Parts: sequence; C-alpha cells; structure tokens
Amino acid sequence: MAAASTPARSSAHLSQPVRVVLRVRPFLSSEAASATAPCVSLLGCHPGGGVTVQLKDQHTSRSEQYKLDAFFRQEDSVSQIFDQEVRAVIPSIFEGINATVFAYGATGSGKTYTMQGTEDFPGLIPLAASTILALCTGTWCSVEISYYEVYMERCYDLLEPKAKEIMALDDKDGNMQLKGLSWVPVRSMEEFQELYSIGVQRRKVAHTGLNDVSSRSHAVLSLRVSSTDVVKGKLNLIDLAGSEDNKRTLNEGIRLQESSKINQSLFALSNVISALNKNEHRIPYRQSKLTRLLRDSLGGSSRTVMIACLPQTPIEKRNIVEETPGATPLERFNALGSNLKEALVQQYLDLLNVANKEELQQLKGIGARRAEYILELREDSPKPFKTLEDLGNIGLSSKQIRDILKKTATGIFK
Ligand SMILES: Nc1ncnc2c1ncn2[C@@H]1O[C@H](COP(=O)(O)OP(=O)(O)OP(=O)(O)O)[C@@H](O)[C@H]1O
Ligand SMILES: [Mg+2]
Repeated sequence: MAAASTPARSSAHLSQPVRVVLRVRPFLSSEAASATAPCVSLLGCHPGGGVTVQLKDQHTSRSEQYKLDAFFRQEDSVSQIFDQEVRAVIPSIFEGINATVFAYGATGSGKTYTMQGTEDFPGLIPLAASTILALCTGTWCSVEISYYEVYMERCYDLLEPKAKEIMALDDKDGNMQLKGLSWVPVRSMEEFQELYSIGVQRRKVAHTGLNDVSSRSHAVLSLRVSSTDVVKGKLNLIDLAGSEDNKRTLNEGIRLQESSKINQSLFALSNVISALNKNEHRIPYRQSKLTRLLRDSLGGSSRTVMIACLPQTPIEKRNIVEETPGATPLERFNALGSNLKEALVQQYLDLLNVANKEELQQLKGIGARRAEYILELREDSPKPFKTLEDLGNIGLSSKQIRDILKKTATGIFK
C-alpha cells in the first residue's frame, strides 16, 4: 500500500528546513498479548502537502489529531521512505549542500530498523550509500565514509579497531571537529557493507527492559562526496538512541546514567531544530556534543528530515510526536522537547533514589553535605523521591528547586 504523503515531494524538500514524517512499526510477537486495535490511523491527505493522523490513547480512549508532512504505515517499506523522503536530498550533496536524516523516537520504536535495516530489508543507510555510489559511477566524483558514535557525551570512531575514542576540539572558527576521525574511500557497495557492518558490531548496544538490542549511543554515518579532491557536500544518516522512561525500562546503575545522557542530548537537539525553524538569532548548538558536531549540517542551507518512529502499542503521551493542529514541524519538535524535559526531571529524581555519594555530588544543587544527608534519609526511611517538591525535604528552597528545573533542561548532568 502506498504511503500517505506529500505529492510534490522534491519541491517540498527545497522549501522546508525540517520535514517531519511519521513511521509506525507493526506489533512484535512479544507484544501480541497486549496488542489491540492500532493506535494510529490516517485521517486525510492535504492537497497542498501533509497529512492528518489520529493517535488514540488506548488506556483512556482519548484521541488527538496531528498534522505531519507524511505518514508511513506499518506495511510501508523502508525503500518507500527512502524514495519519498531521502532520494530528493541526495542531488544537493553533489552541489555542496549538506543534509541530515535522522530517526527519532522512544526506545524500541524502530529507529535502528529504519536506518540500518536487516539483511533482507536494507535500511536508509545502505539505500543512500548505493544511490550515491551509483551517481558517482562514470564521473570524477568519489565517496568517503565516516562512522562515529556519541556515547555519554564522548565520541568513538566506529571505523577504528575497538572503536577508538576521538577528541572533539573546536577549530579556529569555533566549530567542533573530531580530531583524527577516519574518512575511508569506498568504491563499491561491497566495500561499503564491509566497513559499515564492522562499525555496527562495534556500536554500544545493550539489553533493556523495553528492547533486547537497545542502542545506547547516537551513531552518525556520513557519506561525503568529492570531485577532483575538492569536497562537495555530505549526507549524515543518524540512528539516535531512544528517549526513555525509566519507570518502564527498569534501568538502573550505568543504564540509568546512559539514559539521562541520551534524554539530555535529545532535548538539546530538539532545542536546536526549534530555534532554527523560528529563525532565532542564537542557535543553542553548544548544549550537547551531537549538536555541536552537526552544526555544519543542521540549519543554513542544509536539508533535514526527521523520521519520528512510533510503535503500534498503546500510546503514552511522552512517546508520540505531539502537535497541535496546524503547528509547524518545528513546533511539533518543540513539543517533543517539553516531554523530554519531564523525562529529564524524572531522571534527576531517579538518580537521587539510586546514586552513590560521589554521583550525588555531581548533581547540580547537591553539595557534599546534602549528598550525605540524602544517603542518610534513604537509609532511615527508604522513601523514594517522587516529585520535585520532595526536594524540599532535603533543605532546598523553592528558588533552588526552580533553578534545578531550569538547569535540568540545559545540561544538569556532568
Ligand atoms: N518495521 C518493522 N518491522 C518489523 N520489526 C520491526 C520494525 N521496526 C522495528 N522492529 C523490531 O522492533 C524491535 C525494536 O526496534 P529497534 O531496535 O529498531 O528500536 P530502536 O528505536 O532502535 O530502539 P532503541 O532506542 O532502544 O535503540 C527490534 O526487534 C526490531 O527488529
Ligand atoms: Mg536503536
């Protein structure tokens, strides 16, 4: 069945800084027991482009309508998404315009499946690589790839043995560059697949309560085109780590720390996209490593496609692409950001409940004495911190709590 989407795809690409499209994945066999009616359905396609979908919360039966640029149903293939959303940005790379395509969504929503794919169903990354390589055949153009992951705000080169850590340094113009990042020439799909599949194996993946193969890092695969040694443009294809609600993932220890970094950097990314689409003077690239690194490919003349991934399971509000009817893609992205803020606050409280003294001291607003006091409180009455108001019990004033709330959204965890 054909995807519901904008008819004039390529012209829509040229006029919009960020396209937001929704992809729903099918029920998994493990979910069959809880599977009921689909939670998302298409209400209509607009003649000028875009679609309206209805998302139904199966716990409350409440439904809401959202306007998006395109909707891909569970039966739509990745190659349809490629043809309709990604193929159109590729020619601009040959003209020196960078592009970024990323999959965004809660853990287990199908981001890696969409970007990486499987042996039988290649994802957007191999599809883009083969298209770019084919366009270079018989020309003076050549292709190089880089592949790195950002894990807990540190960068690792996935094309190097043991995914060597690489330093991110500011150049003289204040742009962050990855020192020594490998750029490897590829001439054929065989060469690409070999490099890429080894890189994928090196990526940090773990079992969590919601996904057996959960990506714990943001992985950026870039394809760079050059002609007679002059670099033209590059396409970044990003498989983000998923936003997580730790009440559901049952994360603790290192998984909890990973998760707070993941949510924090997703929030920073949403802030950048939001500021770009609002044409704000100051774009907050500096809030996370990922946004600093992507600075040359987000905004300006670059093209960006965000693929919001959604499972067909009962919806929780924070997992969906929130939108008010008529809102721009930016405003929708912004709404996602405010959900992340809630998640970040929740993680701050979760950390108070489980962290050791050293970890507590790293949290904003918690000094050495207060860290000891929290441990004391936890020992005496193991009552978890549930809301921000509980911070009053450890002697924080309402102003300090407000500050924590503010800083939580802009990088509270060191
Ligand atoms: N369209 C699809 N069709 C069939 N199975 C799918 C589809 N999308 C995802 N899956 C399956 O759902 C599970 C979760 O998908 P995936 O690992 O891609 O999620 P994710 O969004 O990358 O999660 P995380 O943020 O934890 O990395 C996997 O077992 C995957 O094979
Ligand atoms: Mg993943």
